[in-house]
Amino acid sequence: MEFGNEVMSYLQGFTYEEEAGNCSLFGSSENSTNIETVFINGIQIKKYVNEFWTSKQRQASSIHEISYRACFKPQLPRFFIELLSEIRDIIYDPFSGRGTTSIEAGLLGRKVVSNDVNPLSEILTRPRFVPPLIGDVAERLSLISIDQGLVPEMDLSMFFHERTLSEILSIRKYLCGRKESGDEDDIDRWIAMVATNRLTGHSSGFFSVYTLPPNQAVSLESQKKINEVRGQTPQYRDTKEIILRKTNSLLRNLTSSQKANLKVAGRSGLFINRSAAYTPEIGSDSVQLTVTSPPFLNIVQYSKDNWLRCWFNSLDGDEISNRITMAKTVEQWSTVMNSVFHELYRVTKPNGWVAFEVGEIKNRTVKLDEHVVPLGHSAGFECHGILVNSQEFTKTANIWGIRNMRSGTNTNRIVLFRKPK
Ligand SMILES: C[S@@+](CC[C@H](N)C(=O)[O-])C[C@H]1O[C@@H](n2cnc3c(N)ncnc32)[C@H](O)[C@@H]1O
Repeated sequence: MEFGNEVMSYLQGFTYEEEAGNCSLFGSSENSTNIETVFINGIQIKKYVNEFWTSKQRQASSIHEISYRACFKPQLPRFFIELLSEIRDIIYDPFSGRGTTSIEAGLLGRKVVSNDVNPLSEILTRPRFVPPLIGDVAERLSLISIDQGLVPEMDLSMFFHERTLSEILSIRKYLCGRKESGDEDDIDRWIAMVATNRLTGHSSGFFSVYTLPPNQAVSLESQKKINEVRGQTPQYRDTKEIILRKTNSLLRNLTSSQKANLKVAGRSGLFINRSAAYTPEIGSDSVQLTVTSPPFLNIVQYSKDNWLRCWFNSLDGDEISNRITMAKTVEQWSTVMNSVFHELYRVTKPNGWVAFEVGEIKNRTVKLDEHVVPLGHSAGFECHGILVNSQEFTKTANIWGIRNMRSGTNTNRIVLFRKPK
């Protein structure tokens, strides 16, 4: 779309229509957008409240199904990518997490730039741009010999059966060796991504005994307590079989054109592990659209959640946790985001867009969306409004680490900025 006010009238008249697959440009009196006006630092900003993306909407691709704390639904970036960019435009996420924006952009034939201060993000994202054949994964796994004599640097027996642990250590050693010798290839990276995702969880589809959901890893001591309370000991899990099953599941509804799009996007894609405030690899005036969701204050403990995933991938979790933004107050958070907005302004094309998502925190006593507006302005962006996507509360609302049980809704707030020409 060429003009900002066309986008705004689109939002105003937006009605979700299932048969249209996505949306209709023609408003209906019943469902079209509710518009509220707020004044932030004396500037008039419109809030567009509607169900812009919904659980009824076209299903997300199975390739997204990698768990990560506070990830957003693929429908969120899809909404903005389809509305505000064209094929082969560059789509960026400075806080990429499991890579939802990048993967969705790749599926839709866009180019991608993905950054996260935690290198785990790239480990989880990049291999999915090169989806393998299941037979190739099976063949590679068959080459990994299991050494029962391997011993971990710490006691992990509260999570894994002895034989399972030998398998995990053997796969880890094999992957490290391939990397060190320079032989690591796409299939190795795929196996590392899936194994990382299957380490711990709460069903027999994971390597561990019952524990927290797969995107959170409790401490060794807490796991001992969970085992005591539940009266459980880790059972043997066939790790290679689990990796193959998850591979099948990730690939199950990927079409050949989506695979081709992902491969093209992966080849030209830029994957960075830096603070979002300093990304010199990204060219100035190059990004058409950023869709992102930053860490919200110190609600989600990304480093604590990911310590076992970091261990498996030989990443220094302590060093990473020092670099992750964990602001205690809105003032501290705003200072970091102020620098991020200046960097976003540099990389965004004139007339390009930023969709900056903040959830509902502390029962709306902190309105992060309204704090974000002046930050974008001071960097030079124009604020084109705040989209409030209001959905009926579902189980998945929990993945935000944020709930709004009172109103029974799962709400995302997205502040939409545009860089002037
Ligand atoms: C809310 S999550 C993003 C989730 C993502 N939208 C997804 O769907 O997976 C925020 C991410 O910001 C990363 N992060 C925290 N501080 C950062 C910083 N200063 N620069 C870049 N990334 C950072 C965390 O590692 C985490 O992955």
